[in-house]
Amino acid sequence: MSIRSQSELLKLQAIGRIVRLTLDAMAAAVRPGITTRELDQVGAAILKAHGAESTPPKAYGFPGTACISVNDEALHGIPGGRVLAEGDIVTLDVTADKDGFVADAAVTVRVGQVSQNADGLVKCAERAFRQALGVAKAGNRVYEIGRTVEREVKSSGFNVLKEYCGHGVGRAIHEEPSVPNHFDSRFRSKLTEGLVLTIEPIISAGTGRSKVQSDKWTIRTTDGSLAAHYEHTIVITKGRPILLTVA
Ligand code: CO
Repeated sequence: MSIRSQSELLKLQAIGRIVRLTLDAMAAAVRPGITTRELDQVGAAILKAHGAESTPPKAYGFPGTACISVNDEALHGIPGGRVLAEGDIVTLDVTADKDGFVADAAVTVRVGQVSQNADGLVKCAERAFRQALGVAKAGNRVYEIGRTVEREVKSSGFNVLKEYCGHGVGRAIHEEPSVPNHFDSRFRSKLTEGLVLTIEPIISAGTGRSKVQSDKWTIRTTDGSLAAHYEHTIVITKGRPILLTVA
C-alpha cells in the first residue's frame, strides 16, 4: 500500500509497535531448553493482549503464530517440540494485523554463546539491512535495495537466498512490489513516497540454495549451512525511511 493519510500512518505505526513488542518478548524468552512452541506461545500472548492477530494462519493457513526457524532453517519454520540448545541461532518472524493494517518483522537471535561463524552471519544480515535503508528512498529503483544487500552479504563471505524477497505490505501480508535481496535489473520500478514495504536480507553461510521441506513450510539450506534473517516494515520518504517495527 501507499500511505495517503495521517490516520493510515498511525494505524500502521500501532501494529508496527505491537509486532516489535512481540518479537522483543520472544527474543527475551530465548534460552537453551525452551521449545519453539513455547516461544510461539509467548508471542501469541502478546499479540492477543494488544488485540492483534497473526496474519500467516489467516492468509496462508500457516500452522503457528510466528515462523520460528533454527540454524539451517531459513524461513517458515513451524513452532513445535524442538528444544533450543546453546549455540543455536533461531529466527523469529512475526507478521500481524490490527484494524486491517499489517506489519512484518524478523530477527535472528543467538541461543547462549554461538560460533564466530554464526555471530558473523547474524550481524551481517542486520548490517545489510542498515545499508539498504540508505538507498530506500523515493526516486530510487527497487533494484538498488537488492544491489546494496547483495554487495554487503557477498563481501562478508556469505550469500543471499535469491528465491525469497522483501515485499510491499500494509493492507495484506504480501503486496507489490517484490524487493529482491540481489541485483535484478527487471525490478526497475521507482520507490515512491508513502510506499510501505519490507526490507529483509535472508542470508546463508553457504551457497544460498534452499529447499522446501516435506512439512511443506520449512525452508532449509540445501548444504546445511546456517541461515539468518533481519526484517523491518518501512515507509518510503524523500529521505530516511520511517521504520514501523522499531521501538
Ligand atoms: Co516479510
